[in-house]
Amino acid sequence: MSKRVVLAYSGGVDTTACIPYLRHEMGADFIVAMAADLGQGDELAPIREKALVAGADVSIVVDAKERFVSEFGFPAIQANALYDGQYPLSSALGRPLIGELLVETAHEYDCNAVAHGCTGKGNDQVRLDLTVGLLDSGLEILAPARVWSFSRADTIAYSEKYGIEPHVSKEKPWAIDLNILGRNVEAGLIEDLSWEPTEEVWSLTTAPEAAPDTAGYVTIGFEGGIPVTLDGERLAPLELLGRLNTLGGGHAVGRIDMLENRVVGVKSRELYEAPGMLLLIRAHQELENLTLPVDMLNQKRQLEATYSKTVYDGLWHGPLRAALDAFVGSTQRTVTGEITLKLYKGGMSVAARSAERSMYRHELVTYGNDCTFDQSSAEGFIDIFSLPSRVWNKVNG
Ligand code: ARG
Repeated sequence: MSKRVVLAYSGGVDTTACIPYLRHEMGADFIVAMAADLGQGDELAPIREKALVAGADVSIVVDAKERFVSEFGFPAIQANALYDGQYPLSSALGRPLIGELLVETAHEYDCNAVAHGCTGKGNDQVRLDLTVGLLDSGLEILAPARVWSFSRADTIAYSEKYGIEPHVSKEKPWAIDLNILGRNVEAGLIEDLSWEPTEEVWSLTTAPEAAPDTAGYVTIGFEGGIPVTLDGERLAPLELLGRLNTLGGGHAVGRIDMLENRVVGVKSRELYEAPGMLLLIRAHQELENLTLPVDMLNQKRQLEATYSKTVYDGLWHGPLRAALDAFVGSTQRTVTGEITLKLYKGGMSVAARSAERSMYRHELVTYGNDCTFDQSSAEGFIDIFSLPSRVWNKVNG
């Protein structure tokens, strides 16, 4: 049987070397290079061409930006998804979509295998393998970079053997993963925990020291937990997120420097820039606080940690994420309103809140004359509320 493979292609040195490797060492007869445009801002026409030069039979670029934001980014905002309380999963959310595209492309081109250029030490291999396995367990998964044990120099030498000239001219001392949800920087100098990143590491955000001296404000409008307007203007998901990335980044909002616990068990130091996602999650949390009852908020916060870990671990297409999404979905119906954020030199704070179905009732909380809160009920409430503690204290001295 002939081996027909779809490769997740990025245009980088490693995935490019995967093309001849798949053909000459792994027995591929037919190779489709599939580059997913998730808003990484690369020029995609040259990438398409590059795969053909490297020996792919077919080379396609799939524009998945809108789908990425609306089907992955926005549900994650509804879940306030922050892995380890910090990382808005910008890279992690891209992998299940790339996995979907691999499977869709495999079906379209009648392929029986998919391939990726991930190494065996990271999270992305886990996410891609899991996704493909969950969506079509009949597809073989090939991961050249997990088996070839090439050094950088070996990879380049191998590519040159097949007439590929890797563009390694301005190689950075770290690795970058970029999409519309955010940017990740890892490896190289960043592995030294005592090294404070210099400005050249960052690209979506200005330094707090260089940010404007006057604060910026933005009002984000949500409908059913989905962001739909900025300062009253209705925008498509991609446009809305893009504007917030620019605005937040300009005020130095969105930098994260964290020690991350990878799926494969190792701790790694990772840098992220995700201004738009962090602004949206902050505003969304605040709007939930305004519109949801406290017991639901408490339960949701617990499930959010599980949701974030589940997505981080690559189980986007598993049954748990679907069940959690059903819970999240049922909480979002009333999460409609506007939150104004103030951005100033790397910090953000909530400046104003409003919602038609606000649970903040002035007549209940005010100390003014128009208060409707019945204080006479308080004594009996406290008596019964404290009963278990009082009994315990009495019994146990
Ligand atoms: N460590 C991050 C994560 O697991 C970023 C991964 C970035 N991927 C990459 N191939 N550089 O989500």
